[in-house]
This record gives sequence, structure tokens and C-alpha cells, in this order.
Amino acid sequence: MDHIHAFPRHFIWGTSTAAYQIEGAVTADGRGTSIWDTFCHTPGTIKNSENADIACDHYNRLEEDLDLIATTGPHYRFSISWPRVLPHGTGQVNEKGIDFYNRLINGLLERGVTPWVTMYHWDLPQALQDKGGWTHRDISNWFQDYAHILLDRFGDRVNNWMIVNEPSAISLFGHGYGFHAPGLTGLENLMPATHHLNLTIGQVYRMAKSLCPTLNIGSTYTRMDQRPETPDTPLTAVESFDCLWNRNFYDPLLLGRYPAQTLPYIKRYIQNDDMDIVKTDLDFIGIQHYAAIYVREDSAKIYGAFFGDNPTQFEKTGLGWPIDPDGFYDCLMHLKKTYPHLPPIIITENGAVFDDTLDKNGTCHDPKRIAFLKDYIAALSRAIADGVDVRGYFAWTLMDNFEWAEGYTPRFGLVHVDRATLKRTPKSSWQWYRQLIQNNGLLPEG
Ligand code: FCB
Repeated sequence: MDHIHAFPRHFIWGTSTAAYQIEGAVTADGRGTSIWDTFCHTPGTIKNSENADIACDHYNRLEEDLDLIATTGPHYRFSISWPRVLPHGTGQVNEKGIDFYNRLINGLLERGVTPWVTMYHWDLPQALQDKGGWTHRDISNWFQDYAHILLDRFGDRVNNWMIVNEPSAISLFGHGYGFHAPGLTGLENLMPATHHLNLTIGQVYRMAKSLCPTLNIGSTYTRMDQRPETPDTPLTAVESFDCLWNRNFYDPLLLGRYPAQTLPYIKRYIQNDDMDIVKTDLDFIGIQHYAAIYVREDSAKIYGAFFGDNPTQFEKTGLGWPIDPDGFYDCLMHLKKTYPHLPPIIITENGAVFDDTLDKNGTCHDPKRIAFLKDYIAALSRAIADGVDVRGYFAWTLMDNFEWAEGYTPRFGLVHVDRATLKRTPKSSWQWYRQLIQNNGLLPEG
């Protein structure tokens, strides 16, 4: 096991969730339809034909879940469902949607939990998709209006905001490969979506800071190493995939330019001073890490590269992702080296799937998740000791939930959710993580 280094005082510890993955109640109290509702009800999109109509029913079980959150940690990251607040994406505000988030935010504050709010975690109002969604340049205006409402209604109590969750997943999975909503494919969708995501982050950041300079505003980005599937995999394939997954977002944000491989495809979407806007000094950057990606050359795919098979030398999570805490350390060191003006980092997601079941006493032992968290948090402590400015860590995720196209089979939670009864049962990793937080990262025995 890796050696643990002390965490800075006031290190931020918490768990992370997303509205669409837990809330359910998709037609309650005037909520509009999102692209994920449409996608889930399109045959062939989600494993086992599952959907998130009920999810964890968090919307109706808020009080119980607030108590659970408050006993887990002092910080909590969640997202707001755009179609709950603006059922048609723009225009009339749905006060009942606002009420729900007021109850959530007030309930957290009453229990001493600091909210960290993601404005957009993938559930775009369908009405905006019908106008072109992320492929339409006006998305940055629609988003600014939405963000303005959130800051206006909640900014008196919420200081920590994340604008977009993982632009690379939105663009590549939703607009390149079609694995995720809205299910679009091809460079003609991928490239405008990529640029408009970057533009929106820059514009919303500026709007929010002009409204209230003391807000703490970031955005979250996935960060995975790209590695060759075999020693024969051409470097160009690995570099291409690195652009698609990482550099198409980090380079504009932190360097004010697109990678050379991308520019020919994207330049037609860039206007006037866009590149000055995409380059943004966020107050913090949310980094989300799960596992390295092993890249295969594949001329039939965008940029001639695709996901290859994961190597055999690592143990795997329940989704077959290699367990490699050193890779997490390497990612953080690489970021620091590549981007000299990197803002402070918060790890806004990290976690793993295992095949968790309740035993005959109704308890859930998940020693593999404890080992995973222990080793990844130790790797994080090492990166901090080696000079990476990381201010916080949010485990993904509070409770087992709807894992997008994978449905409910993958269990990422610290809390087990019974699919039939929706009963919440904290796993042993939950207990372990609570102790870790109480000790500010001094690792308890698993
Ligand atoms: C991330 C998503 C999050 C969850 C984890 C496993 O890409 O942001 O919602 O699905 O993966």
C-alpha cells in the first residue's frame, strides 16, 4: 500500500451526485423533458432497457437523503436539473423546481453541509435540443440566462459553483459516438458542440463574476491518461485520442488555442474574439479521474482512434476499468507540468464499481472499494506532497444510481440502493470514508 502524506488543513472532503442519476420524478411538479428522458425511452440506448424515471427517487426522499448526506461529510456536490427550473429551457421559471432546490440547499446548510453546485450535468431541456442544443451557437446565451437565474435564486446561499460537467463526455459520447444523449454522431456535430461548450464555460464564468466577484466558480473536466493498447499502436492514434478526450478542452481553457490536429475541423465555428473568451482563469478546476484509456488505431473512427482493450496486468473494477492509482498521480503531475497556469484543483469525482450485494443480515461489505479509495487517496496525497495544488476530493458517488447508458447494474455508491425497494444501506466503505474525513485523510484500516 502506498504511503499516505498529510493533507492540508481545511482540505475539502465530500461526495458527488448528479440530478438525473438520482432524482427520478421526471414529470413531477412541472419539470420539462430533458434529452436524457428522450434518449432513455429510445429503444436500444440503455442496457437492459432501463431508464431514470424513478432513479433513486431522491426528489421524494429528500429529507432521508439529507440526513444521509449530513452524516457522510461536510461538503456535498450535486447538480441542478435545467428542465426542472426552466421546463422549456428558456422563459418561464418553474417555481416548484426552485422550491425543491431551496429545500435541498437549506437542508444542507441547516445540517452544516457546504453545497457545491453543478449547473449542468448533461440533462439539457429537450426544447433546446429541438433548436440544435450544443451544436447551436445560441446555447451560450440560453445557458447564461439559465445560470443567471440560478445565481439570482441560490447565490445568496451557494458560493461554490461548477458550470459544466465533463465537456469531453458531452461532446464525444453525446455528439461524436452517439452513446449518450442526444445520440448524435460525426465531426459535424462533435466540433460545434466542442467549441460551444468551451465558449459557454468562458462566458458564464465572466457573467457570474461580474454579478458577484466573490463567488467561487469552476467547471469540471475528466482527466484520463491515454496509453497505447499495444507496443505497436502508433503514437499518432494515442495523440489524436488525447486531443478528443483531453486537449480539446484543456488547451482552449488554459492556453487559449485548440490543438493543431483539431483546428482544421473546428475553425469554421470560431468567431471574432472567441479564443479570448474560452481562455478563462477559473477560480478552481474540477478534475474527474477514473482510469487510463488504452487507445487503438481505428481508421473508421473519428480522428482514426478508439477505445482499445484494457491490459491484463491490472486488477479491474466491475466495469473492467484498470485499477492503477499511480496513473492518477501521473495525471495530476502531467497537468501541473503541461499547464503552468493551472488553477487550484478540486477532485470532483473519483470512484469505482464493484459487485456489491447485501448479505443475509442486510449489511453490505465492499472491501474492494475501501482498498480502491485508500490507494487513490494515497496517490492524491503524494501528488499534493509533490507540489500539485489540490484543495479537495469528492468521492463518486453518494449512492448507487443510474449510470447513464449502463443503467443500474454498475454500483458506484458508498451507500447501497435496493432496486426493488429503494432502501438505502450504507456500505462499509461509507463508514470507512466518514472516518477518513474525520481524520482529515489519515487513513483508517479497511
Ligand atoms: C462521470 C460522470 C458521472 C458518473 C461517472 C461514473 O463521467 O460525470 O456522472 O457517471 O462518470
